[in-house]
Amino acid sequence: KDMYGDRQNSLGRDYSQAADRESHARALELVDREKLTSGPIVGGKLRAGIDAQNVTNPFDRSQVLGHVSEAATADIDAAVEAAAEAQVVWDRQGGAKRAVVLRAMADALEADLDRLVALLSREAGKTLNDGVAEVREAADFCRYYALLAERDFTAPQTLKGPTGETNQLFLHGRGVFACISPWNFPLAIFTGQIAAALAAGNAVLAKPAEQTPLIAAEAVRLYHKAGLNPDLLALVPGRGETVGAALVTHPGIDGVAFTGGTDTAAAINRSIAARPGAIIPFIAETGGLNGMFIDTTALKEQVIDDVIQSAFGSAGQRCSALRVLYVPRDSGEALIEGLKGALAVQTVADPADPKTDIGPVIDPESRRALEAHVERLSKEAKIIARADLPLGAEKGDLFAPTIAEIPTPDFLEREVFGPILHIYRYAPSDLKSVAGKLAARGYGLTLGIHSRIEAFADEVVDLVPAGNVYVNRSITGAVVGVQPFGGEGLSGTGPKAGGPNSLIRYAAEKAISVNI
Ligand code: SER
Repeated sequence: KDMYGDRQNSLGRDYSQAADRESHARALELVDREKLTSGPIVGGKLRAGIDAQNVTNPFDRSQVLGHVSEAATADIDAAVEAAAEAQVVWDRQGGAKRAVVLRAMADALEADLDRLVALLSREAGKTLNDGVAEVREAADFCRYYALLAERDFTAPQTLKGPTGETNQLFLHGRGVFACISPWNFPLAIFTGQIAAALAAGNAVLAKPAEQTPLIAAEAVRLYHKAGLNPDLLALVPGRGETVGAALVTHPGIDGVAFTGGTDTAAAINRSIAARPGAIIPFIAETGGLNGMFIDTTALKEQVIDDVIQSAFGSAGQRCSALRVLYVPRDSGEALIEGLKGALAVQTVADPADPKTDIGPVIDPESRRALEAHVERLSKEAKIIARADLPLGAEKGDLFAPTIAEIPTPDFLEREVFGPILHIYRYAPSDLKSVAGKLAARGYGLTLGIHSRIEAFADEVVDLVPAGNVYVNRSITGAVVGVQPFGGEGLSGTGPKAGGPNSLIRYAAEKAISVNI
């Protein structure tokens, strides 16, 4: 039996087929009509919360998708109390029983795929293919962690000791985890963090990103429908400064899992450290300043495909996305021309349309920050190409994907989160110093290499820290159980998501030695 149970992969869709397009159109119509509600969900019940807000479509801000209210302190307290009580039973049940619920969740996600894809495009600006990939990834996380729950949380490991003594090592849940997730994978990362914490025997309070509370509420409802005791999973939506801060300093929280920006992770780390009387684990997966190094042996057409996908797929809003492409100084011209051509044929439009390649960025703040960066590039670097925006783009947050050539290898100080590709032309004799400047920024998430020479790939791998290295392929789209995902340094604490060691920091270890 492999990690997916009896099946290799979660099911997909093919939008070149009329039947799949029609079911998508029906799901979209339903989502548009529904006006969903999100807010604190405690014990399976939606509570009033405070400070209700509209949730709108990033492609068209005039479309109100539903409403969300923020969790108040009383909601958080009630959720922690219910979770702590239910966790004790859940933890004692053991991994095999928990795996049954996680697998039921995976099935529930797949059964609801069309609706979830429609909602992902409306609330998070996901193209249909990205939406399908995200639902499948969410299901894969559930099935993969179910397998780890069975592997590591069903029976203890027996360790060798002296004669006359038995020694056993047990893993068990730590208690109540706060899972704080980002808007860029509002279903996959949201569901995956929760699945990891649950698999290890914990209960969860989940705080979704402010931008994507509706899809999060749907995921929580699906978990409950799949048979999870509702007390084990509460939804506590709201702002980082209020709900996030309350969670990470709450005396009833026994661990924090966070995916999001590096600065926020550092702030959470400080808050956790300042909590009196408690030492709890902090699992952070953050950003990256991801580079791809090309040498003269790389295959041009393949590089172009992989660069376009890595830099502009998901509107560049993946932490794994390509930010800086390093091309050899004297042979880069043809490649750059090819990239310009490939960018020109990308369709930037409504993500809910099957023909769209690149949807909007997540919010006005993000769009304005990217525009400000382009402004800097136009003064201090050289804009090489920008994609066209359709008429009416200003009704939402579409942003024209951009390619720019930067004058120095240390031009970028930090991650720029969106569809902007920076190119640096390096002299091959300077490889060490150029790569060293990237390494010196302190990130370590993804790294791409395109070359037919193994020694070149080995050298780059040695020079640039990264949790995920991809050779002669795109650098995004890690597959659960195949490419365990996550970085080092400023990019995160580990353990990686979707890997054999994923659950270890969600668990406590107990060694029992008996003299017989
Ligand atoms: N896991 C995603 C990827 O590999 C990024 O978060 O692209």
